[in-house]
Amino acid sequence: MKILVIGKGGREHALVYAVHQSKRVKKIYAAPGNIGMKDMAELVNISDSDIEGLTAFAKQEGIDLTIVGPEHTLSLGVVDAFQKEGLKIFGPTKDAAQVETSKDFAKGIMSKYGIPTAAYATFDHYDAAVRYVTKQGVPIVIKEDGLKAGKGVTVAYEKEEALQALEAAFAIADNRVVIEECLVGFEFSLICFVHDELVIPMEIAQDHKCAYDGDRGPNTGGMGVYSPVKRITPQIIEEALETVMKPMARAMVKEGHPFTGFLYGGLMLTENGVKTIEFNARFGDPEAEVILLRLKTDICDVIENIMAGSKTELEWDEDTVLGVVMASTGYPASSTKDAVITGSDDTDGYVFHMGTAEKDGQLVTAGGRVLLVTAKAPTLEEAYDKAYDDVAKIKSDHLFYRTDIGKKDMEAL
Ligand code: AMP
Ligand code: GLY
Repeated sequence: MKILVIGKGGREHALVYAVHQSKRVKKIYAAPGNIGMKDMAELVNISDSDIEGLTAFAKQEGIDLTIVGPEHTLSLGVVDAFQKEGLKIFGPTKDAAQVETSKDFAKGIMSKYGIPTAAYATFDHYDAAVRYVTKQGVPIVIKEDGLKAGKGVTVAYEKEEALQALEAAFAIADNRVVIEECLVGFEFSLICFVHDELVIPMEIAQDHKCAYDGDRGPNTGGMGVYSPVKRITPQIIEEALETVMKPMARAMVKEGHPFTGFLYGGLMLTENGVKTIEFNARFGDPEAEVILLRLKTDICDVIENIMAGSKTELEWDEDTVLGVVMASTGYPASSTKDAVITGSDDTDGYVFHMGTAEKDGQLVTAGGRVLLVTAKAPTLEEAYDKAYDDVAKIKSDHLFYRTDIGKKDMEAL
């Protein structure tokens, strides 16, 4: 088989890694890919926004299966374009990707089908939004409606903070804002292979969304992750599957937006059971990196089988994998370019490239989140120690990281 993976971050590095384990795969292309993948895949210089270029490449090379990483590629209709050409691609159409690209769309379906989530209201105008926030009080959550790479969300504990978020959101033309009840609980990510009503859950992971230790600072795309998550029992996962993921896949079919691809449930275990924080139309990043390091089943078989209408039993490595993001100083507000990184080849664990480049033979930063340093061990505590030993080997003047990935779960047990 010839496989094309679209994207250039850590998630796509992990997808390439997983596809590379498949005995059936003869050749992997990554467009545009990153240098971390270069021993496993041929990097193709086509942007992940160039839908025409990607389609033409897949046709010309006779690609058997394309796997899409990033949400913006999905939102540009890559799946629709490939399907028109009769090319097999794993990902949702532009229409089905609305489950992520529009928070209002996702909330509307959840509300119609009784899928547990925070109470909400959607606003087009600042004044009405301010009246609502004043009436509801704080804490309250303000979310911009479109694709924001995890950054358009403010959990406001003070009214002033909420009003500032509204002001910033409505300063952007035609912006819509979803205002939600603030839920309290333990977050986890449940990602499933989905094709129409078929849903195959993967092992869960816990991301750390805030920029700094102790869950402080602005929301990011995710600063660290581990899997499995012991505090979330098999019963809770079953509840999440039966009350959230399967009903959502069914609802998407019923509403005329059948979903194919990775459906990501951002979930929270609250006092009142599992609630949905959000859906994403793709694998999580950095969730993909730790989950796929644990997947023992051939990912190409799983995808081909589900697209043909049958489920595959998944096998998992029982060890814990923990990953620490090393990000550019200033992330998420800014990112750096060309800062030299050393030591990433000296680690014991696997290092995924999230935002790197090669310059004058040296590895340099090229994005907000730069590396994900992972470690695998029988326990969370051991994985933590190993991962941070490796983090210490990586040197750069322009990288920072959280020091408490996985700590909350250690304290809980
Ligand atoms: P989202 O982009 O919707 O996943 O939101 C980013 C982060 O904001 C989530 O991972 C949560 O930590 C937090 N968040 C979002 N919605 C809520 C909510 N309704 N209640 C509490 N926290 C939330
Ligand atoms: N790590 C969170 C996300 O991929 O949305």
